[in-house]
Amino acid sequence: MKTARSFRTLVALSTVASSLGATDSSVGYNSSVSESPPAPILGDGTIDLGIATPAFEKAKALVAGMTNAQKVKVITGQSVTGGNGTWTALSSKDGVAGVNQNFFVSGFASPNAATMTWNRTLYEEHSKAIGEEFYGSGFNLMMGPVASPLGRDPYGGRLPEGFSPEPYLSGIMMGKATSGINSAGIVTVGRHYLLNEQETNRMNGGYSANANDKTISEVYLWPFADAVYAGLMGVMCGMNKANGSFACESDKLLNGYLKTNIGFPGLVTPDVASQHTALGSANAGLDKGQTGLWNEATILKGISSGELSQARLDDMAIRNIIGYFHVGLDNGAQPKTGSSLSNRNVRGNHAAIIRQVGQEAMVLLKNDVSGGGGLPLNKPQTVALFGSHAGPCMAGPNQGFSVAGTPSDIYQGHLSTSCGSGDASLPYLITPYEVINLRVSDEGGMVWWVMNNTYTPSSFSGIPGGGGFPGGNLGNSSIVTRQGPGGGGGFPGGGFNSGTGSTPSIENYSENAEVCIVFINSWSGEGADRKELSNTDQDKLVNTVAESCNNTIVVGNFAGPRVLDSWIENKNVKAVLYSGLLGQESGRAISDVLFGDVNPSGKLTHTIAKNASDYPAPTCLTTQCNYTDGVYLDYRYFQAHDVEVRYPFGHGLSYTTFTYGDVTATITNQSAVASRYPTGHLTLGGQAGLFDEVISVQTTVTNSGTVDGAEVAQLYISFPEGAAQPPSVLRGFEKVTVPTGQSVDVTFSVRRRDISHWDNVAQKWAIETGEYTLAVGSSSEDIRGNTTLTI
Ligand SMILES: *[C@@H]1O[C@H](CO)[C@@H](O)[C@H](O)[C@H]1NC(C)=O
Ligand SMILES: *[C@@H]1O[C@H](CO)[C@@H](O)[C@H](O)[C@H]1NC(C)=O
Ligand SMILES: *[C@@H]1O[C@H](CO)[C@@H](O)[C@H](O)[C@H]1NC(C)=O
Ligand SMILES: *[C@@H]1O[C@H](CO)[C@@H](O)[C@H](O)[C@H]1NC(C)=O
Ligand SMILES: *[C@@H]1O[C@H](CO)[C@@H](O)[C@H](O)[C@H]1NC(C)=O
Ligand SMILES: *[C@@H]1O[C@H](CO)[C@@H](O)[C@H](O)[C@H]1NC(C)=O
Ligand SMILES: *[C@@H]1O[C@H](CO)[C@@H](O)[C@H](O)[C@H]1NC(C)=O
Ligand SMILES: *[C@@H]1O[C@H](CO)[C@@H](O)[C@H](O)[C@H]1NC(C)=O
Ligand SMILES: *[C@@H]1O[C@H](CO)[C@@H](O)[C@H](O)[C@H]1NC(C)=O
Ligand SMILES: *[C@@H]1O[C@H](CO)[C@@H](O)[C@H](O)[C@H]1NC(C)=O
Ligand SMILES: *[C@@H]1O[C@H](CO)[C@@H](O)[C@H](O)[C@H]1NC(C)=O
Ligand SMILES: *[C@@H]1O[C@H](CO)[C@@H](O)[C@H](O)[C@H]1NC(C)=O
Repeated sequence: MKTARSFRTLVALSTVASSLGATDSSVGYNSSVSESPPAPILGDGTIDLGIATPAFEKAKALVAGMTNAQKVKVITGQSVTGGNGTWTALSSKDGVAGVNQNFFVSGFASPNAATMTWNRTLYEEHSKAIGEEFYGSGFNLMMGPVASPLGRDPYGGRLPEGFSPEPYLSGIMMGKATSGINSAGIVTVGRHYLLNEQETNRMNGGYSANANDKTISEVYLWPFADAVYAGLMGVMCGMNKANGSFACESDKLLNGYLKTNIGFPGLVTPDVASQHTALGSANAGLDKGQTGLWNEATILKGISSGELSQARLDDMAIRNIIGYFHVGLDNGAQPKTGSSLSNRNVRGNHAAIIRQVGQEAMVLLKNDVSGGGGLPLNKPQTVALFGSHAGPCMAGPNQGFSVAGTPSDIYQGHLSTSCGSGDASLPYLITPYEVINLRVSDEGGMVWWVMNNTYTPSSFSGIPGGGGFPGGNLGNSSIVTRQGPGGGGGFPGGGFNSGTGSTPSIENYSENAEVCIVFINSWSGEGADRKELSNTDQDKLVNTVAESCNNTIVVGNFAGPRVLDSWIENKNVKAVLYSGLLGQESGRAISDVLFGDVNPSGKLTHTIAKNASDYPAPTCLTTQCNYTDGVYLDYRYFQAHDVEVRYPFGHGLSYTTFTYGDVTATITNQSAVASRYPTGHLTLGGQAGLFDEVISVQTTVTNSGTVDGAEVAQLYISFPEGAAQPPSVLRGFEKVTVPTGQSVDVTFSVRRRDISHWDNVAQKWAIETGEYTLAVGSSSEDIRGNTTLTI
């Protein structure tokens, strides 16, 4: 029982505050101490509130005017009226891809796609745009961003809502998501804290995720630290257990890692049905709870018995309110929520941002332009589109976005969002079919399609011509001979009575088209994990098309990693575009890249393995999920174990080529790196100094090809052995536009935390002495230059 803890805390406050210093062992949470960690009370000196100080002062003043009964209302999400404590409960809504289940809002790209842009500025703009739609719709607490799941489990159903299994990349993007959404006046709630990597058995603590301090600090907590540093004011604790304790009842997770180690100043709110005890959860660090467990009687009884401190109750109330002040909601300007039918123009120019995110998110995995094939397309005159993912589903745009219990991971229509709380409310959906059909027809060509992954003429034999389209007058036809590029029209002996087509079949279209584009997807979302990382029907479709079509292009939008090995080496598969889920402008973005209006610049945010069984941590089916893979997620694992992969983390081609200059590095703060541990006090994100630059790395990127393009230069660091790190870890990236024939200087700013590792004994971030290799490349495997520094 944690009874005495709060009192001990209060006594210890002044000493903690005054003893923060270079060698202070109380900085950070020491998990080898078996007692509960102290609950950090905002303002007690444990955490320097930094940018949150003005909001804290306002929240404190508001709470000071409240009675305990009113404070109980605040911490259970109710409004307070009368006296000095007037407070309107915050209105929350899901929506990492736009406001969930609302009319007249935009359907944004899912975070898993937006991360593939590797464009920080764009990520922030995209997040601000989402925030503006929440703001305009009257919601003020956004349930997102999501960095848990991070992506340990490639089958994880909610990967579209998160960023990447790479903690550094996730952290940068989560920081941008937080600052972007905050800047629109919306309080962000990072979730699902923590180790919530899968949907399977998620309800009611159906599994316990067990990870050690190093793994938690270096991997799973890492992105949350960036978000807290950027001003994250809410965290949702998950449904799962961690080391046997419910996440929302875990001292270590909430008071320890979150509120102490990374200095989180905001409220902790539970996921559905994730609060299990009244005073236990309050003392563990939960700040918002259910009226069933927290009511005036329970809370006041706790205070009088000493099981809950008055300071903690005040702290809970303040934490519920601080975010409101931090994002400026107290200016009173926000409109109230309206009916779903009230057409408020909250969408601004967001369609343009969604299209740009889609364009920059497409990763060109393969592009063989020999023989005039591959991408970009150059006014093709006969184009065949294949797969249900090419066009609309039967009843769109929001048909069937519920994955729990859905028998297949495949969506029967163009997929542009996930489902459950990550489901965008698509106001419309532009599919590739629509855009390509218009484009090719405008360029004088012909377009055929089979929008079914398993179509055979006989399966649709009831309909003349096998078209499957009621009212079609396809008539008789026959195989036509292939026309070369630019041929168009006038096929000898063609069908359709006048020779312009062929019998609708995958084979016939494939034989006759100059370009065959196969569209594939994989779908998942809240409620279930994926069952497969590839799909027999879709893979068969690609192979069938490629058998007859020497210029087969595959376009795929996926919920998470998608294994491609059943056809990737087929020489007729000339090009592959791969991405996450792109939102309402998906078809336009895809077409922009296919036709070369936009040069692709996305990079993989996970590794594509050769075989699904190569991934180290599939969905855990037992009640104890031991994270024995430690910090070895994704490429960190593949590199450490020398597993050959299909496409490495960070890979992505362009219609141009880039060369890299020499790599140089300098220590920009000698005195900082001379100290093994940071010397600052605890503040938002961790100890002060962790986010400061200590090393600067330079190179140049030259566009050696014939079209302008953008490259994402990536910095990978190899640590001295004592740091116990994977062979190399991403610690910088810069996306730069480089006109053809020109060079652009690239500088990576390496922060103290980027060269630190978690020292379990000291419970601090430590810099190991020794040699660091700083390698710059176009992917995690395509290193173009390196240098070393000795610390
Ligand atoms: C309201 O605030 C004023 C000024 O701080 C104080 O004098 C008064 O006692 C407060 N009233 C209540 C009900 O707390
Ligand atoms: C990144 O996004 C910003 C903001 O939209 C844009 O101005 C910039 O061109 C993009 N950078 C690259 C390299 O694509
Ligand atoms: C789980 O247990 C490990 C090993 O004892 C420890 O390092 C870690 O801090 C614990 N994590 C949590 C969330 O309790
Ligand atoms: C495909 O085959 C046709 C007919 O042999 C040929 O004209 C065309 O150049 C080939 N295309 C590619 C991309 O190889
Ligand atoms: C696709 O075609 C198959 C026949 O091969 C049919 O059973 C299935 O219902 C079709 N799917 C859709 C979504 O129309
Ligand atoms: C299709 O061709 C067959 C055999 O040549 C013929 O009997 C039939 O009338 C034709 N149908 C149409 C709709 O032209
Ligand atoms: C191709 O078209 C011909 C002539 O219309 C037809 O007889 C044949 O069945 C079609 N092939 C396939 C595989 O559908
Ligand atoms: C993938 O791995 C599984 C399990 O190890 C194995 O049975 C299968 O043959 C592998 N597939 C390929 C294509 O290598
Ligand atoms: C997880 O680790 C615990 C403690 O080491 C062990 O007893 C248990 O068998 C492990 N569970 C699984 C499923 O590996
Ligand atoms: C160098 O690091 C020290 C310790 O973190 C810090 O106090 C100082 O401000 C830094 N200097 C510069 C120029 O950033
Ligand atoms: C953490 O706690 C253990 C056990 O009390 C102690 O031996 C160790 O010195 C502590 N570490 C720090 C940095 O205080
Ligand atoms: C660094 O560059 C050297 C010389 O080009 C090369 O031999 C070495 O393999 C590189 N190391 C890394 C980690 O890329």
